[in-house]
Amino acid sequence: MVHSSLIVTAAFSWLHLVNAVNNGLARTPPMGWNNWNSLACDVSEDLLLSTSKKLIDLGLRDMGYDHVVLDDCWQDIRGEDGYVTPDKGKFPNGMRAISDQLHMKGFKFGMYSSAGEMTCARYAGSLDHESKDAENFASWGVDFLKYDNCYHMGRMGTPETSFNRFKAMSDALRATGRQIALSLCNWGEDYVHTWGMSIANAWRMSGDIYDSFARPDDLCGCDTNNPTDPFCIAPGTHCSVLFILNKVAPFVDRSIPGGWNDLDMLEVGQGGMTDEEYKAHFALWAALKSPLMLGNDLRVTSPSTLSIINNPAIIALSQDMHGRAAQRVARNLDVPKDEYGVGETHIWSGKLHNGDQVVILLNAANEDLDMSAPLSEIFVSEGPGGSAPQANQSWEVFDLWANRMSDAEARSILEAADDQTRAEIFGKLGWYNATDIPYEVGLEQGDKRLFGQKVGVVEAHSAWNVKVLRHSAKVYRFRRSGVKSEGHNEL
Ligand code: GAL
Repeated sequence: MVHSSLIVTAAFSWLHLVNAVNNGLARTPPMGWNNWNSLACDVSEDLLLSTSKKLIDLGLRDMGYDHVVLDDCWQDIRGEDGYVTPDKGKFPNGMRAISDQLHMKGFKFGMYSSAGEMTCARYAGSLDHESKDAENFASWGVDFLKYDNCYHMGRMGTPETSFNRFKAMSDALRATGRQIALSLCNWGEDYVHTWGMSIANAWRMSGDIYDSFARPDDLCGCDTNNPTDPFCIAPGTHCSVLFILNKVAPFVDRSIPGGWNDLDMLEVGQGGMTDEEYKAHFALWAALKSPLMLGNDLRVTSPSTLSIINNPAIIALSQDMHGRAAQRVARNLDVPKDEYGVGETHIWSGKLHNGDQVVILLNAANEDLDMSAPLSEIFVSEGPGGSAPQANQSWEVFDLWANRMSDAEARSILEAADDQTRAEIFGKLGWYNATDIPYEVGLEQGDKRLFGQKVGVVEAHSAWNVKVLRHSAKVYRFRRSGVKSEGHNEL
């Protein structure tokens, strides 16, 4: 007879194997908004509440952006009793009042601290105060903690030192009994991609993003020719989209449901990139399963920004239940360079839950280019050299930007005078609503709004050829259209 406690133990250790931090949170990459990229320390109760209203009015909460995350600069001092109080000028009613209102509107409330004596903006940090700070967060109804890396008092330099410093907060959060997702922000230091999943739901893998597609900057201090340089001494604050992609490429596969490589918050709508660059940035962050935290000031959203961040066919890549990031299957440096000497093309490819494949052709060269994605490369994970059974069949190709909301439609939402007008517009557009139909269900049901528009077919053993404009990406879903009779075709 098998003792029941043995069964429990066996089931529990199995859960450990598949569940990363095993707190059951962030089974798909978290989505939401964070104030830092656009507003830095200019935070207040009004900002959080007016932004949450915008998220609802613009239909973004219902696209899945359900976290409102307050970054640095909310603190007053740490009091005699060991607890940090919020700045009363910025948050006159305290944090609980904000989280109650956010929860009532269907949001999760995110906050910020640092595993250091100070936060990056030099407010009170949580190092050696983890329990009291975690108690605070729990009592304020916090659901998500972004946990930074500044002023760590030298407690870094080996994976174990960093692991233990961050684990103290992970343990403290768990001890509160409240479900709080933990998002590490140690900029890729000490190989966080190898241990982050044991204690957290996400981990930043690079220095801070800035609003540039490809411009190298000394403040993104790793060797830009070798972004995976393990001896990088200054992950920095000015990392371009292209730099971050190059840095994460060798370990995208470390993301699993419950624990994600965080490529940093989105810059879409901030003004430093072209529309095509923002589309590429957004789609790659979705396909690579980064958390999708909007970083723009939503109170001044433009129509083209809205129609990027509300594309359900792209978001469905992020929220796909398979929960594995697309990987880079081809990189070509032999292409025209810009004035900084930067220029390259990539092909990214990733498996999706229903057997579809996301395929992205990225042109980060300095000219429009004809690009080619052979099935043998697209399916290299299933067998290199064209041996993958998937290379032996034809695929229908669906363009995931084809049904982007028009500028006029986006403008009508942005300019709608009241709730009723907005509801009528959304009704007329029949826009996707993930509150009504979660992405998992929509994908399962084959909801057309998640699948883009068919633009062609790739025959077995051939390639998808397309012109890709300078600094843009083509983003596709490949869907099986038939299996050739000879050869292996078991999928
Ligand atoms: C940085 C972090 C940013 C932001 C900032 C706040 O370390 O990477 O995302 O949180 O600190 O001071």
